[in-house]
Amino acid sequence: MHIVSIGGGPAGLFFAILMKRLDPAHRVTIVERNGPQDTFGWGVVFSDETLGNVATADPETYGEITRRFAHWDAIDIHYRGEVVTSRGHGFSGLSRQVLLDILQRRAESLGVEILFRREVVDLAAFAGADLILGADGVNSRVRELHAAQFGPQLDWRANKFIWLGTTRHFDAFTFLFKETEHGLWRVHAYRFDDRHSTFIVETTEATWRNAGLDRADEDATVGFCERLFADELAGHRLLKNKAVWRNFPTVRNAHWSHRNIVLIGDAAHTAHFSIGSGTKLALEDSIALSRAVAACGDLPQALSAYEAERRPVVESTQRAAQTSLQWFEETERYFGRLEPLQFAVSLLTRSLRITHENLRLRDPAFITRVDRWFAGMAASQSGVAVPAEPPPPPMFTPFRLRDMVLANRVVVSPMCQYSAADGMPEDWHLVHLGSRALGGAALVMTEMTDVSRDGRITPGCAGMYKPEHATAWRRIVDFIHASTPAKIGIQLAHAGRKGSTRLMWEGIDEPLATGNWPLISASPIPYMAHSQVPRAMDRRDMDTVRDDFVHAAQLAELAGFDIVELHFAHGYLLASFLSPLTNRRGDAYGGSLANRLRYPLEVFAAVRGAWPRRKPISVRISATDWVPGGFDGGDAVEVARALKDAGCDIVDVSAGQTTPDAQPVYGRLFQTPFADRVRHEADVPTITVGNISSYADVNSILVGGRADLCALARAHLFDPYWTRHAAVEQNHPLAWPDQYRSVAAYRPRLG
Ligand SMILES: Cc1cc2nc3c(=O)[nH]c(=O)nc-3n(C[C@H](O)[C@H](O)[C@H](O)COP(=O)(O)OP(=O)(O)OC[C@H]3O[C@@H](n4cnc5c(N)ncnc54)[C@H](O)[C@@H]3O)c2cc1C
Ligand SMILES: Cc1cc2nc3c(=O)[nH]c(=O)nc-3n(C[C@H](O)[C@H](O)[C@H](O)COP(=O)(O)O)c2cc1C
Repeated sequence: MHIVSIGGGPAGLFFAILMKRLDPAHRVTIVERNGPQDTFGWGVVFSDETLGNVATADPETYGEITRRFAHWDAIDIHYRGEVVTSRGHGFSGLSRQVLLDILQRRAESLGVEILFRREVVDLAAFAGADLILGADGVNSRVRELHAAQFGPQLDWRANKFIWLGTTRHFDAFTFLFKETEHGLWRVHAYRFDDRHSTFIVETTEATWRNAGLDRADEDATVGFCERLFADELAGHRLLKNKAVWRNFPTVRNAHWSHRNIVLIGDAAHTAHFSIGSGTKLALEDSIALSRAVAACGDLPQALSAYEAERRPVVESTQRAAQTSLQWFEETERYFGRLEPLQFAVSLLTRSLRITHENLRLRDPAFITRVDRWFAGMAASQSGVAVPAEPPPPPMFTPFRLRDMVLANRVVVSPMCQYSAADGMPEDWHLVHLGSRALGGAALVMTEMTDVSRDGRITPGCAGMYKPEHATAWRRIVDFIHASTPAKIGIQLAHAGRKGSTRLMWEGIDEPLATGNWPLISASPIPYMAHSQVPRAMDRRDMDTVRDDFVHAAQLAELAGFDIVELHFAHGYLLASFLSPLTNRRGDAYGGSLANRLRYPLEVFAAVRGAWPRRKPISVRISATDWVPGGFDGGDAVEVARALKDAGCDIVDVSAGQTTPDAQPVYGRLFQTPFADRVRHEADVPTITVGNISSYADVNSILVGGRADLCALARAHLFDPYWTRHAAVEQNHPLAWPDQYRSVAAYRPRLG
């Protein structure tokens, strides 16, 4: 087989090595525009776990690489005059030049032909090759030549960064944060041999321009950075090597191969340098591709198998890289606001992959310090004593909203049960909500409970519009208060244009076959093309619905609920005012965000006025429509600020379900970044919800300051005792009701 690699970086070189190992008869040529010694950049970092695959694929290369590694296991975070250290991370650094030397020597020893200083402009010269590798990095010429077939997407990120070196020997992976009159600077620094460290300086474009670096050449840039970090460099110089300020592009391709041409490494995909995975991904691509080519006789099949194997891994890494790079783009949000320990945890858990539990295993002393600090904060916030030695897991700390004190941070998220008749809660609701309260969650929310008969989603939805409803709810509230330490909240709503539909299991969002009732909304836009067209609300409708909310809140007080949550999310009536996609009104309630917020705020103010001052109110919002041009995270911050000013105590940050054409980006904790943003930018407590399923996630969210409470929905359907199980796993004592005391010394064996 004749293989040509365009590009002699880690991807091209390692693939060449592996193919020669598989069969020395393969003819492998690498065409590289640089000379053997002219690489860009300084060191690369690998985590200890990443190189196992390389060890199996080519023990010789692995041996050479690991002999040259600089190891360290601590991360130092320099923040406002303090250094926070977290240990046990297990990293290795290596000079990029050394890595390339090792790979070049190994390739040449196996008979790979490397043509240095040959810039490839087109592929005509390689027409006879069996396989052509686009291993030409982030600005791939091969990708560009066949852009129509590969379908590349380059997401150029906002921050500016520059890759410098230094002779300063950093003992730990070091993050520096420094504020100047120009703005905030971040540095990612790590040792890669006995004498050198990589020193990447990163900042926002505004700060970079304020400092005049848009007009600075390489020497002026280096001089500026040396002065800026003089203390941290401790007399050492910064070293340049083709140092230019860049923006990072996240590269994605719709297809990785076309005929006999295949993309690999950075040409196919990139992952932000802050998670240090680019070289690892490039090496792993080479391994997967060489195995696929060896296993399949047919080349197109091999190239598809390679992509099928690698794409999920790459996309998962890119999702982690995305949250990580956003953290560095948005560091101003946290800087100065968070205390050093919490800032450090927020940084360490930024990709939402490293959890509180991972940190505990890596550095128990560090996480005990964090938990102790968190427990102290919770004690002063709630006015409830919290043991400091040992501190409880963060999820088992109290939290106060007005006079309501929650025993822990777990919330049973509102979940429609479609089991009521004319709004009346039944035995099902008693058992459903009661068992979840027994299960240990501090706050149990009712399902979306409608403020009028016509405000229901379905004929089975619960309501709070008749005095009998208050009596029936009172039975459930009283049970929970008498038998458990849990608090219970009611989510009040009007379904708007999503009303008059079937029970979930009979066709979600589908209009009723018979017996439909008329719908109202901000504008006369049906939810789906075949849904009923709602009437645009006039002032009389607005007064009626506002009064229905007030009446429902009064009934909720009679029923003894501890907290009311108003439903401004998921496309229901009040949400339909907030989104520009569903609110096309030309009056004072449509147009600008302030106008779209006007009616929901009127409802909020009326309910706040009717609800006891000592009791809190939450509002659930959809922080994004997941549609370009729709309601988004910035709007969510504005709404949260206005709600806070109006007396809202906590914002329950959900997302989407406002229009059927949304394109949500699902994943673990996928809505938590919105709660984080609202919490810090609107300075209001938040509940986060969405794909939270482990106690490690809950603890991570809390100590990282991303939310104050965590709501779990499906996890609680699956396991009403979710909180109790989390307590057992963490050896945290959680009192059982008297009736169940015999369980205290019982250990289930489920395996
Ligand atoms: C600031 C920064 C820090 C990073 N830190 C890390 C880290 O800590 N850990 C890590 O794993 N990764 C890191 N990376 C990413 C890493 O450098 C890349 O992911 C990795 O080098 C990808 O390997 P590759 O072989 O695909 O591409 P490259 O290493 O970019 O190699 C491509 C090669 O193709 C050659 N080439 C390009 N065009 C042509 C052409 N037309 N003709 C001939 N030759 C051509 C180039 O000269 C180059 O040698 C970092 C990247 C940046 C920008
Ligand atoms: C069966 C079911 C019913 C739901 N009903 C409601 C509801 O009444 N009100 C609401 O705001 N969200 C409702 N949701 C959304 C959940 O509260 C939660 O936001 C969502 O399921 C994501 O959380 P999870 O990943 O923990 O399930 C419902 C979800 C489910 C699964």
